Amino acid sequence: MDHAKGLAGIVVDETKISSTKNEKLTYAGYSVEEIAKAHASFEEVVFLLWYTRLPSEDELREFRRDLVSKMVLPAETIRLLLYIAKEPQHPMSILRTTTSLLGTTNDVDHDEPPKILAKMLTAIAAIIRIRDDEPFLDVDPELGVADNFLYMMTGKKPNAELSQMFNTVMILHADHEFNASTFTARVVASTMSDYYSCLTAAVCALKGPLHGGANERVFEMLNEIMSQDEDPIDFIKNEIGRGRKIMGFGHRIYKHGDPRAYILKDIAEKLAEETDNMDYYNIQQQLADYMLEKDHLHPNVDYYTALIYHCLGLEKETFTLVFAACRTSGWLAHVMEQRREKTLIRPNSEYVGPTNRSYLEDTAVKEAR
Ligand code: COA
Repeated sequence: MDHAKGLAGIVVDETKISSTKNEKLTYAGYSVEEIAKAHASFEEVVFLLWYTRLPSEDELREFRRDLVSKMVLPAETIRLLLYIAKEPQHPMSILRTTTSLLGTTNDVDHDEPPKILAKMLTAIAAIIRIRDDEPFLDVDPELGVADNFLYMMTGKKPNAELSQMFNTVMILHADHEFNASTFTARVVASTMSDYYSCLTAAVCALKGPLHGGANERVFEMLNEIMSQDEDPIDFIKNEIGRGRKIMGFGHRIYKHGDPRAYILKDIAEKLAEETDNMDYYNIQQQLADYMLEKDHLHPNVDYYTALIYHCLGLEKETFTLVFAACRTSGWLAHVMEQRREKTLIRPNSEYVGPTNRSYLEDTAVKEAR
């Protein structure tokens, strides 16, 4: 039987949400580069992913108002969050429990995507604030969704330039067709389970270092190079020599460069300049040049976001939480699409273990011993 390891190259279903065909990322037919360059807002892109069309001005205003108004958490969630967010586990483990918790303290049978996305963003911001020993911040109805999320995480209201950059960062992470966490969410959705269960499963998949967890590892690597005052290229050679993968490089789909990474690189450079973090950026440049020349490996979406999140003042352990916040919009789009299909995802496997064994004969042997 023919089979593809890791489902590589296998088309498992149709989707109208996003595509990476020919290594070009499009959302409902629009190039992500164009969307980012035109400075679309995050909520405009969420609308596009959910309804596969752009909103009118009135629709967008109402969509934004609705999402922002829902960025509050029930008192019970906050009470429990104050307890679990302080646990010593990795913040992504805290988010896994929190996502499940949202499905317990909210109306799991009737909650709709706008409410669920809004609560996820607020919960993620709250986890970060609680862990930083900072007071929990209320949503500001005057700000958009991305600005509010940034404000509620960092305590600072962004200026126009930062707002634009952060909206772009969120947009670039919003969706990516059948990536591992989205596919996980779709598998759960295909059983007609509830939204919160789908998102909890997706968070578990995103946590891994081969997926969303790579951004944290990128920053660890940069710190290691800086703290040991090591030549970046020697460091990389050493790692590769030990058979290790270099985090933030390579991609299952993009073999000629991740279109998101080019845009994120510019944002990382700007923020690094403004926040006196050019040392990190310069090391990243050296590593990227070497990886390209040596292995034709390009930076992926996680490579420059590591530096962007650092420049925003976030701890490295929380980087993947921000990824999860952005990707929740795409997960929800896919869960909705999958639920409309009403088809259970249940593939087959090729069995390669022993065959024709006899339980009776084998247990008789044991008895005879
Ligand atoms: N560092 C070093 N070598 C890498 C590499 C990396 N980051 N990514 C891929 N390679 C090499 C592999 O070792 C393999 O070499 P081989 O053919 O000699 O065995 C080859 O490139 C193909 O890689 P493979 O892992 O089979 O490709 P994939 O499509 O299954 O993997 C990733 C894609 C993302 C899992 C992989 O590139 C990776 O692990 N990257 C690091 C983690 C990361 O940044 N994840 C975030 C993704 S957005």
